[in-house]
Amino acid sequence: MDDRIDAVLDMYHERMHAERELRNNAAPADRSEDWRDRQLLAVGPETGRLINIIARSLETPNILEIGTSYGYSGIWLAEAARASGGRLTTLELKDYKSAYARDMATKAGLADHVDFKVGDAVQLIGSLPRGIDFVLLDLWKDLYVPCLEAFYPLLNPGAVIVADNILYPGGEPVKRYVSAVRAKPGITSVLLPVGAGIEVSRFEPTAR
Ligand SMILES: C[S@@+](CC[C@H](N)C(=O)[O-])C[C@H]1O[C@@H](n2cnc3c(N)ncnc32)[C@H](O)[C@@H]1O
Repeated sequence: MDDRIDAVLDMYHERMHAERELRNNAAPADRSEDWRDRQLLAVGPETGRLINIIARSLETPNILEIGTSYGYSGIWLAEAARASGGRLTTLELKDYKSAYARDMATKAGLADHVDFKVGDAVQLIGSLPRGIDFVLLDLWKDLYVPCLEAFYPLLNPGAVIVADNILYPGGEPVKRYVSAVRAKPGITSVLLPVGAGIEVSRFEPTAR
């Protein structure tokens, strides 16, 4: 990581810390959809570093991030794209979040390595070409399985998928995702207690 990236990550970490304080003091009734949309909802530093390590180890990877939010995990992935000669495509429903993420990537000197796309992820995936090498799956949890069905046919041999929030908050939709991804031909998968719990899966081409 260079100084510009470190400075941007520090900004996110400060905001995460402030949000955690607010969250701990907020009554459940205060947690409206609008309130949720103002939160970073970021993967956090451990998962950030792990996805950076994995994506960096791939050769010129096409990286797909499903759920940009305000761009925290995207910084880790864009740095991996730059380091490995790859590219990051990141999908987000809310235009103001995508715009914020683009500003932060520009501050970090990484925006040239990222395509920011705004719209519904399942539809956007349908318009992507084949050849995805790495996926971070991190949007609303009831969309994990529909997104899997959309991107699975586009995976390159050796592709890695990381799905967040398997242990926290967990729940039925992520359980359904874990069952679905493990049932896919050619997938080897493991749950790791990193951050909020991540399911890490690899597509093995010979078995499809
Ligand atoms: C948990 S946050 C992503 C956090 C981000 N990966 C990070 O670590 O910084 C999930 C995001 O998915 C977005 N989202 C929800 N439904 C979506 C959809 N149908 N298509 C695209 N994005 C969606 C939400 O607006 C939210 O910003």
